[in-house]
Amino acid sequence: MNFDLSPEQKEMQRMARQFAAERIIPNAAKWDREESYPAEFVKEAADLGLLNITIPEEYGGLGLGLVEEVLIGEELGYACMGFDTIILASDLAIVPIKIAGNDEQKKRFFPLLHTGLGAFCLSEADNGSDAGALKTRAEFAGDDVVLNGTKMWITNGGVAALYVVFARMETEHKHTGTVAIVVPADVPGISHNKLHGKMGQRCSYTAEMIFENVRVPRANILGEPGDGFKIAMKTLDRTRITVAAGSVGVARRALEESVKYAKTRHAFNQPIANFQAIQFKLADIKMGLDTSRLQTLYAAWLVDNNRSHGQASAIAKCRASDVAFAAAGEAIQIHGGYGYMNDFPVEKLLRDVKLNQIYEGTNEIQRVVIARSLLK
Ligand code: CAA
Repeated sequence: MNFDLSPEQKEMQRMARQFAAERIIPNAAKWDREESYPAEFVKEAADLGLLNITIPEEYGGLGLGLVEEVLIGEELGYACMGFDTIILASDLAIVPIKIAGNDEQKKRFFPLLHTGLGAFCLSEADNGSDAGALKTRAEFAGDDVVLNGTKMWITNGGVAALYVVFARMETEHKHTGTVAIVVPADVPGISHNKLHGKMGQRCSYTAEMIFENVRVPRANILGEPGDGFKIAMKTLDRTRITVAAGSVGVARRALEESVKYAKTRHAFNQPIANFQAIQFKLADIKMGLDTSRLQTLYAAWLVDNNRSHGQASAIAKCRASDVAFAAAGEAIQIHGGYGYMNDFPVEKLLRDVKLNQIYEGTNEIQRVVIARSLLK
C-alpha cells in the first residue's frame, strides 16, 4: 500500500488550495450573505483546470481520476461548501455520459462541458428518495423525444450548459420505464425558477427546472431507453464520493478554526485549549476527519481502478457528511457566543454542510444502500 500522493496530485492539491485561499475564502461570506452566484470565480476555476477534470483526454478533457477530484473537493469544501457544490455537482452530468454514452455522444456533448457546467435532473417535488417514481414524461415522436415535466432542487439548474434528464416513458414499469436523455441548455422549452431561502450553500445556484415540450433527437438517449434508472444509480455511486470530499474539507476547516480559537481564547486565566473538555472535542473531530478522508480516498481509488464501489461510496458520503456536521456543531460550541455569529466562519460551516447529509441521496438512503449490499 502506498499512501503518498504523486507529484501531479500534490500539484493539483496545491493549486486548488491556493485558489481556495486567495479567491474563495475572502469572498465566501459575502456570497452567502447576498445569495449571489459567483459566475466569474467559477470561470476562473474552469480556466485553472479545476472544473470537469474527469472528461477523458480523447474528448478534449484532462482525463484525471476521482482521486484527483477528491483532492480538489476537500480544498473547495474547506473554503466554501457552496462553491464546491457548483464545481463538483457538474460531475453528475459527466458520469452518465461517460458510463452510458456512445462515442458520437461523447464527441458531441463533452465539448459543452470543457468550460460549462453540467446538471443532473432526477429529483422532482414529489419524488426525492423514491427516484424511480418520476412523473416527468418522455414521449417518442418520430426521431425525436419530447419531454414534459418539472424537476426540483437542481444544482446548477439555470446556469448549466447541459442537462442529463431522467423521465418516464410509460407508467407501468417504474424502473425499466425510465430514460436518461442529454438536453443541451439552448434547446427551446427549458425554463427555470431560482430557489431562494436556502439555509446554506447559498452561492450555489439551485433551481426548479421546467421542461415544456422540449424536443431532442432520440440520438440524445444514453444507453437503451429503459436504462435510465440504473444509469442514475451508477452515477450516484460515483458522485457521492465528491460529496464526501467536500465534507472532509468542512471537517478540516472546523478543526483548524477550533484549534486556532482554542489557543487564543482565554478563560479562567488560561487558553481554553488547556481544558480537557475542549481537547476531547478536538480529538473527536480529528478522528472523524482522518477516518472519513481515508474512506473517501479509498472509494475514489476503487472507482479509478474499476472495482466495485457502490457500498464504499455510500459509506464515504454518509460517514463524512455526518462527521462534518458534528464537527461544525462542535466548532460552534468551542467558539461559544462568537460561534453563533456570522463574524466567525463556523456557523456557515454548519448551515452549508447540513445539505451534504441530504443531497445525492439522504444519509438514510445511504444506509439503505449499505444494508441492501450486505443482505443481497
Ligand atoms: N447500480 C446498478 N443497478 C442498480 C443500483 C446501482 N447502484 N441500484 C439499484 N440498481 C438496480 C437494481 O439492481 C434493480 O435492478 P433489477 O430490477 O434488474 O434487479 C433496479 O435498479 C431497481 O433497484 P431497487 O429495487 O433497489 O430500486 P428502489 O426503487 O428500491 O430504489 C434507492 C433504490 C437506493 C432507494 C434509490 O431510489 C435511490 O438511490 N434513491 C435516492 C435518490 C438520490 O440519491 N437522489 C439524489 C438526486 S441528485 C441531487 O441530489 C441533486 C443535485 O443536484 C445535487
